[in-house]
Amino acid sequence: MRDPDENGWTSSAPAWIMRMVDDGDFSRQHVLDQPMLDRVSALRPGTALDVGCGEGRFCRMLSKLDIATVGIDPVDAMVEAARSRDPEGDYQVAFAEHLPFANNSFDFVVSYLSLIDIDFLDEAVAEMARVLKPGGRLLVANLSSFSTSSAMIGKRYCRDTGEVLRPLGRYLTEEKSWFEWDGLRVQNWHRPLSTYMR
Ligand SMILES: C[S@@+](CC[C@H](N)C(=O)[O-])C[C@H]1O[C@@H](n2cnc3c(N)ncnc32)[C@H](O)[C@@H]1O
Repeated sequence: MRDPDENGWTSSAPAWIMRMVDDGDFSRQHVLDQPMLDRVSALRPGTALDVGCGEGRFCRMLSKLDIATVGIDPVDAMVEAARSRDPEGDYQVAFAEHLPFANNSFDFVVSYLSLIDIDFLDEAVAEMARVLKPGGRLLVANLSSFSTSSAMIGKRYCRDTGEVLRPLGRYLTEEKSWFEWDGLRVQNWHRPLSTYMR
C-alpha cells in the first residue's frame, strides 16, 4: 500500500485546505483559472474527472457549469474537505496511477497542477487516457519545465547588480525535491518538457 504522505501531501493538507478555499492562490485566480475555464467551455463535456483534485476547488467550478464531475486525490483529508465543501459532489480517494474507473468513462479529464506531484507519470497519463472516452480530451495545467528546472538549483544573484537570476539547472535530469512555502512542505518533480510531450 502506497503512503500518500511520501511526497508530503498528507502533512501539508491542513495548510493547503486553509489557503485554497474558493478564490485559490494568486496563480490560479489571476493566471490559470480563466484559460482553463475557457477551454472547458469550448469543449462542453458532459462528464469530467479531476485527477489530484486537492480540496476540490476546480471540481466545484466544473459542477457550476453543469458538468457531472468526479474528483480523486490520494490524501484522505483532501477528499474529506472536498466533500464537506461540496456535499453533493463525488470525491474519491485514489492515486492517479490506479484510477478506479472503467475504460471510456469520461468526456474530459483534467490535471490542474498535479503532474508535478505525481511520481509515476507514465502510468498516470496512461490511466487518464484509459478512462477517457474515444475523442475525449485531457487538459493539463503544469509548471513550465524552465521554472521547475531553475527551482531545483535555487536562485542565483548577479554579482554586479544583485539582480535575481533563475538559471536552468540540470534541465535534462528528472528529479524531485522538497519545497516549503506557506506552511506546506511537499516534493515536486522537475521533468524536461520532452518527457511531458512524450
Ligand atoms: C498542487 S495540489 C493541486 C490540487 C488541485 N488540483 C488544485 O489545483 O487546487 C496537488 C495535488 O495532487 C495530489 N497528488 C499527489 N500525488 C498524487 C498522485 N499520485 N495521484 C493523484 N494525486 C496526487 C496531492 O494530494 C494534491 O492534492
